[in-house]
Amino acid sequence: MDTTISERPLEPLAPSIEHQAVTPAALAECIAGRTYARLTAYFDGWPERSLMGPHSRAVLYTLARMLRPEAVAEVGTLHAGTSEVLARALWENGTGELHTADPFGADRCPQIIATWPPELHAVTQFQPVNSMAFWVDLARRRVPLGLVLVDGNHDYEFALYDLQMAARLLRPGGVVVMDNSDQTGPFEAARAFLAMNPAWRELGNAIATHDATDPFNDKRASLPNTAFVLLQSPSLLSIGALPWSTGTMPTASAWARGLELDLPPQRIAGQLHYRVFVRAFADHNRWVGEVATKGAIRIKMEGGKRSIIHQFPWPLGFEVPTRFPEAVCNVEIDLAWQADADSPPLMLSSPPFAF
Ligand SMILES: C[S@@+](CC[C@H](N)C(=O)[O-])C[C@H]1O[C@@H](n2cnc3c(N)ncnc32)[C@H](O)[C@@H]1O
Repeated sequence: MDTTISERPLEPLAPSIEHQAVTPAALAECIAGRTYARLTAYFDGWPERSLMGPHSRAVLYTLARMLRPEAVAEVGTLHAGTSEVLARALWENGTGELHTADPFGADRCPQIIATWPPELHAVTQFQPVNSMAFWVDLARRRVPLGLVLVDGNHDYEFALYDLQMAARLLRPGGVVVMDNSDQTGPFEAARAFLAMNPAWRELGNAIATHDATDPFNDKRASLPNTAFVLLQSPSLLSIGALPWSTGTMPTASAWARGLELDLPPQRIAGQLHYRVFVRAFADHNRWVGEVATKGAIRIKMEGGKRSIIHQFPWPLGFEVPTRFPEAVCNVEIDLAWQADADSPPLMLSSPPFAF
């Protein structure tokens, strides 16, 4: 296939965009500014094979500059058009790596990425896999994402999965960009996700203004001139009645003695239910060990931050036989908050930690 794409020299495109929290007001200010106008002109018709318009590319560049993320993930590389926009922003940031995946891109994407300036190539990791394999890999490596572009399979089930996995890895205050808000799958996935995760917010009001009498409105979007729904993770972790899980987290041993929780100032009362699994796998998963414990911690706070060190009644774990020195161990923590009447959800400053 022809991978000839006109390249442009590397140059800072948006030095005036400062590292800052993304708020609706800060984003609106950036979009109204001269730098954004220059970005839309720069990205008008370039990169040539990106399916998005100049405003969408300028928004991606702006978000990457504002967030200065350690890592960005993109589902759906196609011809690496938006990948290059994101990689250029990371280069201008002077930090950060881009992870991008497309199951149909193995013959195409590496060749295109190889034509980029080497500085961009160096910060980009392409995986020729579908998003399920991609997210499993990023989660296993606990890649600290600050920005995610979901632009792969637009069916509802795929878009919702991509969004839920992005949410699991996203840093507080990070942003998920769902492309194609004009289509049912991404839009309804974003709507369902927000209903399930009320501590998240849309940067815009496409979802708040959704009109049930117009289910196929193809003009709805969080930002003008885009087909994006922008969702932002809360600055704190919110635990409600629906069980929340850390997912499996790699550990050095198959032991955990208790839980550590970091709570910001809040007024709450209720029972925090937990279940903790410790697992180990060896001999190509022919040998598997698993133990679990569950319990509840009564928490009442009237303000002021607090750390809770909760010891399990007895240490949870097992010894991995010495014949398996390569065993892989992990821990998973599930939490659910049973609030007393009138108490809001429990907020955590960071994910719980098993010690
Ligand atoms: C709309 S295109 C991406 C466009 C690209 N972001 C741009 O504008 O430069 C969607 C891409 O998603 C890929 N795709 C389809 N199913 C996928 C899946 N399950 N996981 C990841 N990517 C997928 C397709 O191969 C296609 O290249």
